[in-house]
Amino acid sequence: MTERDKRLFIKTYGCQMNVYDSQRMADALAPLGYRETEAPDDADLVILNTCHIREKAAEKVYSEIGRLRQLKAERADAGDMVIAVAGCVAQAEGEEIVRRAPAVDLVFGPQSYHRLPRLLARVSAGERGVVETEFPAEDKFAVLDHLNRRPGDAERETAAHHGPRMVTAFVTVQEGCDKFCTFCVVPYTRGAEFSRPVARIAGEVERLVASGVREVTLLGQNVNAYHGEGPDGTAWSLGRLITHLAGIEGLARLRYTTSHPLDMDDDLIAAHRDIGELMPFLHLPVQSGSDRILAAMNRRHSAADYLRVVERVRRARPDIALSSDFIVGFPGETDADFAATMGLVREVGFAQAFSFKYSARPGTPASEMDSQVPEPVKAERLAELQALLGSQARAFNDRCVGRTMPVLLEKPGRQSGQLTGRSPYLQPVYVTAAADRIGDLVEVTIDAAGPNSLGGKIVSNDAHRSYHDPVTQSEGIAL
Ligand code: SAH
Ligand code: SF4
Ligand code: F3S
Repeated sequence: MTERDKRLFIKTYGCQMNVYDSQRMADALAPLGYRETEAPDDADLVILNTCHIREKAAEKVYSEIGRLRQLKAERADAGDMVIAVAGCVAQAEGEEIVRRAPAVDLVFGPQSYHRLPRLLARVSAGERGVVETEFPAEDKFAVLDHLNRRPGDAERETAAHHGPRMVTAFVTVQEGCDKFCTFCVVPYTRGAEFSRPVARIAGEVERLVASGVREVTLLGQNVNAYHGEGPDGTAWSLGRLITHLAGIEGLARLRYTTSHPLDMDDDLIAAHRDIGELMPFLHLPVQSGSDRILAAMNRRHSAADYLRVVERVRRARPDIALSSDFIVGFPGETDADFAATMGLVREVGFAQAFSFKYSARPGTPASEMDSQVPEPVKAERLAELQALLGSQARAFNDRCVGRTMPVLLEKPGRQSGQLTGRSPYLQPVYVTAAADRIGDLVEVTIDAAGPNSLGGKIVSNDAHRSYHDPVTQSEGIAL
């Protein structure tokens, strides 16, 4: 054990995988005496776990480093505050970060964080500007699994804010991407696709469930490309993994994200039909509705292919709520291309979606393409698309009013006496309930809908684990 607890502050940017990684970094540092703190002010170690996906995300890191440098300068024990940059900016920019921001002591990529104790030892020994962005040969998950995610420590951030009971957790099952969409940095920052073995994932989920977790979201940059080794030595699909995990006693709900349209195989679609624990929500990014743009993006599917996947999934699970990511203003996108995206959105009807202006990323093929779209055109298209997606999301929420659905109560709501949970369709639902109900799966009759959330009353304390909504089943969710 160490002489005294050291304080660790981790700031997380980007996707859920970074949230998971931050938790695992805290796990890796716990044996060295590091405990998480809520602000950087008194921290001995500050880690910025960064995102490189769009220019804005990457630039935020440098402004934050500027603030930390100031803080460090103002502190009497300035020398004791270590500033580390982790995650996808670290991987993409490496040495450049230390050159541009000499206040940074340590830079390490998403594949190296299990080496944190060794890296920190180098910093304590007086080395400055330590950079570790190799993709190491050893499997970081294998190293981290020895640390056993400690019961009760999962989703620590939520715990720090909302008390001890952790109801939902992320578990990374797949990492990296081999798809190389022409706009995207992920294959460069996260490396080649890798799937964790089934037994390791099941072990982690079992430990989480034993600590009180009731819903697990399986994560991967391309989660449905999962092909991890099963107990029988063969490669298992995500559908098979989900079926296996659904058998874990006490686990009420499973979700997964993010999936690629090309990897929606029959196993996974069948799981949506057969596995009650698998929630009827699918985040399936399409990016664009124009075949010309999809080809230039190297998505390797057409708009019609996407619609066919949607149809197959809806046939298996008619009430499934769909979500997507969109990019507007990809190089060469014309008004007609954009109109095709709007057309696809109208045809599918999304319950929720994320949309972005194309951001040229260094080193990606699209950043070198001719006919980059001017900023004002991107802004105009984004506003138009978001208005349509916003109205679809609102209509989807409105249609939930009057219905009764299971809600997993997760944490305190905004007002006192209120808890918030999630519907099967991932909508936040606010109800009046005592804090000791956190972790309960209850039946809620929805009586209010907003743009991003629902409100309702608990009508029964015990919701069925599997849920097939009778109304949406016959109507689908097309709006
Ligand atoms: N693996 C997922 C998404 C990864 S990144 C997939 O294949 O869909 C999350 C989202 O960020 C992407 O779906 C895309 O919509 C957006 N994105 C990625 N690179 C971008 C860029 N250069 N500019 C704007 N948006 C981008
Ligand atoms: Fe990026 Fe495409 Fe891979 Fe998704 S599938 S992570 S968008 S390269
Ligand atoms: Fe960002 Fe890296 Fe995730 S670039 S979106 S943090 S994989």
